[in-house]
Amino acid sequence: MAIRHFLSLLDLSRDELRTLIARAIDLKARRQNGERDEPLKNQTLGMVFEKSSTRTRVSFEAAMAQFGGHAIFLSPRDTQLGRGEPIEDTARVLSRMVDAIMVRTFEHEKLERFTAHSVVPVINGLTDLVHPCQLLADMQTWFERRGDIAGRTVAWIGDGNNMCNSYINAARQFDFTLRIACPEGYDPDASLLAAAGDQVNLVRDPSVAAQDADLVVTDVWASMGQEEEQARRARDFAAYQVNGELMSMTATDSLFMHCLPAHRGEEVAAEVIDGPRSVVWDEAENRLHAQKALLEFLLSG
Ligand code: CP
Ligand code: NVA
Repeated sequence: MAIRHFLSLLDLSRDELRTLIARAIDLKARRQNGERDEPLKNQTLGMVFEKSSTRTRVSFEAAMAQFGGHAIFLSPRDTQLGRGEPIEDTARVLSRMVDAIMVRTFEHEKLERFTAHSVVPVINGLTDLVHPCQLLADMQTWFERRGDIAGRTVAWIGDGNNMCNSYINAARQFDFTLRIACPEGYDPDASLLAAAGDQVNLVRDPSVAAQDADLVVTDVWASMGQEEEQARRARDFAAYQVNGELMSMTATDSLFMHCLPAHRGEEVAAEVIDGPRSVVWDEAENRLHAQKALLEFLLSG
């Protein structure tokens, strides 16, 4: 059977994604009941991190340990990647030694080159373009709290970044409507947006996006690699904070999500992220369960 990779949500079919979310919910319950599953005994996950991480690293490492396997953390600081060994050679070598590889890097194209030279499944642990593992956790969180997301309305407020692009793909795969409010000059990826057709609308105004929305999602104004743009972005995004006033325009049972790390007082007010509609801690925990389902799918079919 051909090996499968997970570089974006579009690499899995709609049915596969739904099955994976259901399995993640099941794996969470099994862990809560103290059941032990070791489907990946003796298997190893290589994890290449060219950017910082708390959740992605710990969730993949814990997932492999809980499944009876092992994970290896690799950073450019202490591998030959940092001394210029080509990504293609690194992919060839690592994939002869481990059973799957997770990569967090900058350019998505670099991840694609890595994947082209890997003989084992590759997982996108975040690129500048998309962050699909986060969407598995977000969808799991929605399904747990509210059931199916098909037909619902999601408001994306803020930067048209890797998370926004991932929500565009999710709208297609999970059949919800996405309204994006981002300032001019901070639009999401044009081709992903075009491919989503009428399921995704760029509305600019946060209050238009938030009106009666079932789910409101935001993310940092300056992503990893954009640190020097922080001051300009803070000015350009000043009207894009998710606060109590914006949330009051949404549906009565709406939820708030943020992939974290968050900056209270910037993209989100403390009253929202620490308030009753926020499900950010479940969302973070679900990285573990959703990625266990993903690893099982890619490695044991
Ligand atoms: N949400 C997320 O991917 O967090 P980390 O950067 O901590 O992995
Ligand atoms: N957009 C953020 C997400 C972090 C998980 C970034 O790329 O830094």
